[in-house]
Amino acid sequence: MNPQETDLSAAVQSAYEVLEKSIVHYLGGPVGTIASADPKAPAANYADCFVRDFVSSALVFLLDGRQEIVRNFLQLTLKLRDKQAEIAGHRMLPRVMPASFKVITHPDGREEIDVDFGDRAIGRVAPVDSMMWWILLLQAYVRATGDIEFAHSPDCQRGIRSIMNIFLRDRFEVFPTLLVPDGSFMIDRRMGVYGHPLEIQALFYGALEAAQRLLDPADAENHPVIEESAARLTQLKTYVHDFYWLDLGRLNEIHRYETELIGHDAINALNIYPESIPDWLPGWLPDDAGCLVGNIGPGRMDFRFFSLGNLLAVLFGLASEEHAQRILDVFVGRWDDLIGTMPVKICYPAMEGEEWRLLTGSDPKNIPWSYHNGGNWPVLLWALTGAALKYGRVDLASRAHDFAERRLVKDQWPEYYDGRNGRLIGRRANFNQTWSATALILSHKFIEDPLVLKRIGWLFDREEDAATPA
Ligand code: GLC
Repeated sequence: MNPQETDLSAAVQSAYEVLEKSIVHYLGGPVGTIASADPKAPAANYADCFVRDFVSSALVFLLDGRQEIVRNFLQLTLKLRDKQAEIAGHRMLPRVMPASFKVITHPDGREEIDVDFGDRAIGRVAPVDSMMWWILLLQAYVRATGDIEFAHSPDCQRGIRSIMNIFLRDRFEVFPTLLVPDGSFMIDRRMGVYGHPLEIQALFYGALEAAQRLLDPADAENHPVIEESAARLTQLKTYVHDFYWLDLGRLNEIHRYETELIGHDAINALNIYPESIPDWLPGWLPDDAGCLVGNIGPGRMDFRFFSLGNLLAVLFGLASEEHAQRILDVFVGRWDDLIGTMPVKICYPAMEGEEWRLLTGSDPKNIPWSYHNGGNWPVLLWALTGAALKYGRVDLASRAHDFAERRLVKDQWPEYYDGRNGRLIGRRANFNQTWSATALILSHKFIEDPLVLKRIGWLFDREEDAATPA
């Protein structure tokens, strides 16, 4: 399917118009898409091309056979890493991927790229997820086009190796999960999501897997990275399975946990205090469903339900099939809370009162049931339909899609919605938000033919060769 087809719904056609208008050019070629074409956007950087925002645009382009823009983007962002400024007192800064970039055209026609590595972003947050999305996108590109030569080029190989070296390097860590600061992913503001947030772990898992497929085994320099990635992948999966999983059985265990235990075989290894179980949780978790908790650390379990982390865990296979089905059951069982009138709630429940004050730093954009703090984000629709269809849950996918399709055009593609059930357009939301539009296109494509999910290569059994086009 492509935008020229005439039988597209008015909503999907309008989504394609938003996407077309968002395309950014550099040196004569398309290289990305801006986050939002809203001239009244509340922050100047919405006119930037964000790495994470471009992913859903890229998937649409790949599925429509427009691979040039994706390849240009992958090449350009790889080069932009070298523009990162050194910071005095840091020994050799690891080259990271930018959060976003923008093309500035000077009056004499000269083009220049302004890059943000988090050093000009609000709150100066580190875009840890960009590097992971870059690898995952490279894998999707290879899978959709069969162009493994591109991934095997010296630049890409060096890029993948150096990204994986950043992730695999030991820090002050005793867990196989990745330790990150607050706001290092889609939730790029202070939200108490420092430490080991689920979304980063799911992306890390996906990136570890993709890297193994993309690194050329013929190059001996790649061998240690391939081996370490394979080992870390297994450890990460086991750890997430054992420590992040929550269902009624586990909740009962935690409710009666012994604490202050020392030793290798302590059951409550992280010393989670039963008193930290929030009041809303026991009544909220559906009987046979389950989910991965938002974050864990010493004496800390963040019981909030983070949709994207859970959905990516399903999509990338970090969650076992049994757990995946039960995660999807949470969406069905708690439909009003997680889908409401606009899919999908970014995290449930919202933080209120003192908790909001302390964990967001009194952020007025993140007041309860708004934006990152319990808002509903249309962009998450593609992950929901993708995850649901991976396990044949057509009803869940179609029902959520219909809710979004009915409202998004009329509301002019807002970035997010407010309120417990997402009935209000987000108070400070942009209109014409590119990823709200691309999510609807992708979700439409997935529902029309779930096999297209294979064409982007993220749903493969590990044995399958990601390099051959489907
Ligand atoms: C906001 C979102 C972030 C997104 C950016 C551009 O900062 O929190 O995830 O990448 O807007 O849309």
